[in-house]
Amino acid sequence: MAKEKILVIGASGQIGVELTLALRKIYGESQVVASDLREENNLLKGTGPYVSLDVMNKEMLHVQIIRQNVTQVYLLAAILSATGEKNPGLAWHLNTQSLLNVLDIAREEQLQKVYWPSSIAVFGPTSPQKNCPQQTIIEPTTVYGISKYAGEFWCKYYHHRFGVDIRSIRYPGLISYKSSPGGGTTDYAVEIFHEAIEEKKYTSFLNADTYLPMMYMPDAIRATIEIMESDAKSISVRTSYNVAAISFSPAEIAAEIKKHIPDFTINYKPDYRQQIAESWPQSIDDSIARKDWGWKHEYDLPGMTTDMLNNLQS
Ligand code: NAD
Ligand code: SER
Repeated sequence: MAKEKILVIGASGQIGVELTLALRKIYGESQVVASDLREENNLLKGTGPYVSLDVMNKEMLHVQIIRQNVTQVYLLAAILSATGEKNPGLAWHLNTQSLLNVLDIAREEQLQKVYWPSSIAVFGPTSPQKNCPQQTIIEPTTVYGISKYAGEFWCKYYHHRFGVDIRSIRYPGLISYKSSPGGGTTDYAVEIFHEAIEEKKYTSFLNADTYLPMMYMPDAIRATIEIMESDAKSISVRTSYNVAAISFSPAEIAAEIKKHIPDFTINYKPDYRQQIAESWPQSIDDSIARKDWGWKHEYDLPGMTTDMLNNLQS
């Protein structure tokens, strides 16, 4: 494998920690530079290089990319859906300008590849609710969704106009035990495990029957690495790929947890995030990702629940 030098931006976040660790296993510890605005996550300490970096400071970002001989960038810095609604201007600014900064530098320095995730949040209430296709009516209602949809077209534009090899996935809600989620509408599906173990009860901020597309983190990390390692010729979608794994509601995940913790109870107190969740599809059609680069999820709801509880309890 050619000597790659990878920069992960937003490495201290929910995805960044696990992705950085996985990339270090493949490419070597010193070949993957973790960076973030906040301090280095404890799980990353001692596993490879870390730089403190604000992706909005384009000059500093450019200097780092040249200084470190970076060949690939994974851009994970963003403000997610729920936090975004509290400060829409900031969410738009960070989510779009960070991408434009990276795309410009990628073009100038002829970086080999760039990864940037989009989200199921691009879809809105007018998109099909079940098996939502890759191409359909897309009218997002959150600032997060708007910024992701705009970002998808910047990716496509930089690819077609300037030849930047940028690849992207529309992640569903991600469930993980290593690092905490950063302010999304799907965060309940992580919180519920912690509360089930610690308190044996959980108050969900989404209603019992709110179905959302979800994925266990090991599947998401594998999807990310698989799309990045695929032959460029197999990438037919240069906006962002639908990927799917499981869909469930708070009542269903609670029932699954109850199989392991019989005295666990859940109650429901929906807040502003209910409206965001209702604007998103319940399930996603990812047949194009499956056909183009062989995407296949591994974890179903029982498998994920068992693994989450085993890891959190140990
Ligand atoms: P997160 O909030 O956990 O992590 C984002 C990281 O970016 C944080 O560590 C934060 O400190 C850092 N950051 C923020 N501003 C920065 C700046 N100016 N410069 C450098 N770093 C900065 O988010 P995440 O869940 O890891 O998400 C990563 C990406 O995946 C985002 O683009 C997000 O939209 C996307 N995504 C996540 C999910 C999910 O369920 N986690 C689902 C769909 C899409
Ligand atoms: N998990 C993310 C969120 O809820 C989806 O992009 O914001």
